[in-house]
Amino acid sequence: MLWKKSATALLFATGAASQNTTCKHCDESAHGFASLNGGTIGGKGGRTVFANTWNELKDYASRNGSLIIRVNGLIKSETRGYEIPIASHKTIIGVGKDSGLVGGGFAVKGTRNIILRNLQVSDTRIPEDWPGKGEDWDGIQVDTGFNIWIDHMKFARMNDGLIDLRRDSSYITVSSCIFSEHNKALGIGWTTNITAKVTINDNFFNSTNSRNPSADNLEMCHMYNNYFRNCTSYGTYARGHTSLLVEHSYYDTVFDPLVAGPNASIKANWIKFKHTEGEALLDVNSKKVFKASDYYQYSLRDPYDLPNDIPYFAGPQAEIGS
Ligand SMILES: *[C@@H]1O[C@H](CO)[C@@H](O)[C@H](O)[C@H]1NC(C)=O
Ligand SMILES: *[C@@H]1O[C@H](CO)[C@@H](O)[C@H](O)[C@H]1NC(C)=O
Ligand SMILES: *[C@@H]1O[C@H](CO)[C@@H](O)[C@H](O)[C@H]1NC(C)=O
Ligand SMILES: *[C@@H]1O[C@H](CO)[C@@H](O)[C@H](O)[C@H]1NC(C)=O
Ligand SMILES: *[C@@H]1O[C@H](CO)[C@@H](O)[C@H](O)[C@H]1NC(C)=O
Ligand SMILES: *[C@@H]1O[C@H](CO)[C@@H](O)[C@H](O)[C@H]1NC(C)=O
Repeated sequence: MLWKKSATALLFATGAASQNTTCKHCDESAHGFASLNGGTIGGKGGRTVFANTWNELKDYASRNGSLIIRVNGLIKSETRGYEIPIASHKTIIGVGKDSGLVGGGFAVKGTRNIILRNLQVSDTRIPEDWPGKGEDWDGIQVDTGFNIWIDHMKFARMNDGLIDLRRDSSYITVSSCIFSEHNKALGIGWTTNITAKVTINDNFFNSTNSRNPSADNLEMCHMYNNYFRNCTSYGTYARGHTSLLVEHSYYDTVFDPLVAGPNASIKANWIKFKHTEGEALLDVNSKKVFKASDYYQYSLRDPYDLPNDIPYFAGPQAEIGS
């Protein structure tokens, strides 16, 4: 049995020999809060493998040790809504612009040092369940996970959250992603502890009804260069004891673009509002808010450029995974 298993693996490796086992951007590491606490390098230093099927993706994602997994094409989940668990020290990166996982998602449960890049994750939605209450079929669900970089992904039409970062998950950066056509985009919290540190930059929140994000009890939530368009219920919500620094952002056609609960604090730095209504809280106990440049370097874009630049640069890109 064991012999047979390794023979199959060998056969697969031989069959895949014509595929490139390196890629230009497979070794990149995270910026923002994911660059602290030892850094987020994913599978750097490990082997590079190709996942062409859902079973290969599931298998590689669960392996021990460092591994760079290149997802080749759009893989269909064989179990609708199943969230593939990811073990520590993995990079999962899409080849080209049109790779990803359809009909399922990913889960991080108590593991660390994980990079997800250049993938579309979409379409677990049950058409008659727009609120997404019936099934918990997230794009990525993270429970007590550390050092995670989610970059150039596109999340759309799931059932429940596009990304849920829960139970003290921390040192996470979400950058250059598209969140689209959904009720609950990005939720952070599900804890009474105030420890989470999250960076959210250069993302496009497009026709996302709520949670852009909903950030509950974050010690530090740093958002910059984000573009929000058509968020019908609310935009960015600092809940619990969250400390939110929001910089150089553009809210277009958003109801309640910036809201805070009674114990939260918000500091804003050059926010552009267009066709917005309701609450736009720019200073809520802002003296309590942290200074991001004490922790890492970052560069701010001109908010007026965001409607043109962000939809173009966010989401999967041909050159990243090739
Ligand atoms: C392999 O790499 C070469 C050189 O970078 C590139 O031209 C080719 O398209 C790549 N093939 C695949 C399957 O990625
Ligand atoms: C992975 O490593 C852990 C801890 O060293 C071990 O308990 C587990 O059996 C390993 N799993 C596999 C699939 O090798
Ligand atoms: C809060 O932190 C404590 C101590 O680390 C831990 O036991 C508890 O599970 C955490 N609570 C939640 C909701 O994660
Ligand atoms: C933005 O949302 C609209 C639906 O409101 C959709 O038609 C369009 O494809 C989305 N754009 C992107 C880049 O996802
Ligand atoms: C705005 O988003 C909602 C979903 O929240 C969608 O039903 C509607 O079609 C979108 N409007 C436009 C103009 O894209
Ligand atoms: C505000 O924080 C205090 C102290 O943690 C807590 O007792 C109170 O319930 C909080 N208020 C709200 C509205 O959450």
